[in-house]
Amino acid sequence: MRIPRLLQAVLVLVGVYGGFIVVFDYMLGQVIPQSLLNMYMFFVSAGVFMVFTFTEESTNEIVGPIKALVEDPSKKKLRNVVFILVPLFFGWMTYDQMKPSFEAPVELRTIHPAPPSTAKVYGKRYNLLTLVNPFRKFEKEDPEKFAELVREGGDVYVKNCQYCHGDKLDGKGPYAQGLNPVPLNFQDVGTIAQLQEGYLFWRITTGGPGLPKEATPWLSAMPVWEDFLSEDEVWKVILFLYDYTGYSPRSWGHE
Ligand code: HEC
Repeated sequence: MRIPRLLQAVLVLVGVYGGFIVVFDYMLGQVIPQSLLNMYMFFVSAGVFMVFTFTEESTNEIVGPIKALVEDPSKKKLRNVVFILVPLFFGWMTYDQMKPSFEAPVELRTIHPAPPSTAKVYGKRYNLLTLVNPFRKFEKEDPEKFAELVREGGDVYVKNCQYCHGDKLDGKGPYAQGLNPVPLNFQDVGTIAQLQEGYLFWRITTGGPGLPKEATPWLSAMPVWEDFLSEDEVWKVILFLYDYTGYSPRSWGHE
């Protein structure tokens, strides 16, 4: 039995998409931004379309079933179902895209500007290229102590951060709607999962005012936590952010 061409084309697309997810998510353990995946699938679809409509004959095989669905009197029932489902599907997609969302617009602002190589916080100069979380080592050395540190970090979070970043760390805290740029959603693979703990330390201690120029045009409401939290509290809240979301910080690759 031969698989119809139209189904073949669909299977190739599903296979490529699935393969991409398997290779990156499961085998390489890398997180891929949705926008990149969309772009990739766009080119794959264009390629599949070109290959599958290369000759007159193959084009007919692709178009044939679609034509039959619209014209063949015996397919009336199926046709009615499809004609209801397709508009519903696109209606839902349009609604889903148009409804107001908390996500920050993608390209207008550099969300993760390159950090300076050093930062002056707590009256000391930190080398951000080598800075590591002094508590991270307890994750292996003393899991009990580590769990306690994470709990303390959770306290710091609830008292200081959840108003904006949300009690589920999803950027939907009660103040979030009034802010532009919006507080970042730590559950999204595009934020802390991509960053090193030293980067977070810099961002938390220096806040919106610490952002370099390329992070404008908007003014970030992120407070300068150097003024309110101790250094230890900042490191603990960072432990908590990773622990709660289940992400691991990026490392320098020699750990
Ligand atoms: C007044 C609201 C507000 C509070 C409170 C707040 N933040 Fe933020 N935070 C923001 C906003 C807005 C952004 C996004 C703009 C930016 O990057 O500065 C942000 C960004 C961040 C980032 C950068 C993430 C990234 O992917 O680059 C980190 C880390 C962060 N906040 C941690 C914290 C921590 C930890 C606390 C509590 C100690 C906290 N924030 C409290 C508003 C807030």
